[in-house]
Amino acid sequence: MDKQQQLQFIGSGEGFPIVWIHGFPLAAEIFRPQLDIPGYRHIAPDLPGFGNSGPFETDEVSMDDYAACVLSLLDQLSIGRALFAGVSMGGYILFAIAKLARERAAGLILIDTRAGADSDEGERKRYETIAAVKENGTKVVIDQMLPKMLTPGTLASSDPARTITERVMLQASERGCIGALRAMAGRPDSSELLTSLDLPVLIAVGAEDTLTPPADSRFMADKISGATLLEIPNAAHLSHLERPEKFNDGVTGFLKRHRIG
Ligand code: MLT
Repeated sequence: MDKQQQLQFIGSGEGFPIVWIHGFPLAAEIFRPQLDIPGYRHIAPDLPGFGNSGPFETDEVSMDDYAACVLSLLDQLSIGRALFAGVSMGGYILFAIAKLARERAAGLILIDTRAGADSDEGERKRYETIAAVKENGTKVVIDQMLPKMLTPGTLASSDPARTITERVMLQASERGCIGALRAMAGRPDSSELLTSLDLPVLIAVGAEDTLTPPADSRFMADKISGATLLEIPNAAHLSHLERPEKFNDGVTGFLKRHRIG
């Protein structure tokens, strides 16, 4: 079964490429506030089964398969090296890219993510969710995930962060959700990989993230030599979308410090 999937993407700007990889069950559009950071070429793919990209033909997918799709998109765009940024599941894909094609990464931005694998309990819950999606569709995932994406204040408002998050979640396909849940359940522990990451790394986390709390980011920052940790106040799991000014300032400082691009 062919696991390659042609990815749709949002592109903007010119310069050294930054690839923005979204989390679950989202799409490229969550990076709107980042796509006009000046001086860079931004590429934000929709992962298979999310946004405008069709799903994999099989549910048996791994983080390596998502990584291969992203790298193949870059091949099509004739992009060799890039800076990779990933939020949550997007971060898990970054670890797969660092393992499979380290030479293509000029640096990493790990946003509200974690290095560890699922616990047995976590894995069991993923399969329960898969069963629920098969029975009742993606609403179950939206009901579970939306309240954890943003702070209660933002969720109760008409802030664009809320509108965008809800809109992209409604676009997620059943097949996309099932594949991603399986891949997340089966992903390896990347903690050991962290100590070998000899490249510029920025780790950003919302101070109020309960899905991948700041302790997970501090753990990564302790393991990665020279990593910068940016903790963003008044932000939950999608800190880059909820507090874009603070996040973008942190990214701009990081890019300058490491002379990326
Ligand atoms: C995500 O935001 O991509 C997911 O919350 C990650 C996860 O469930 O592990």
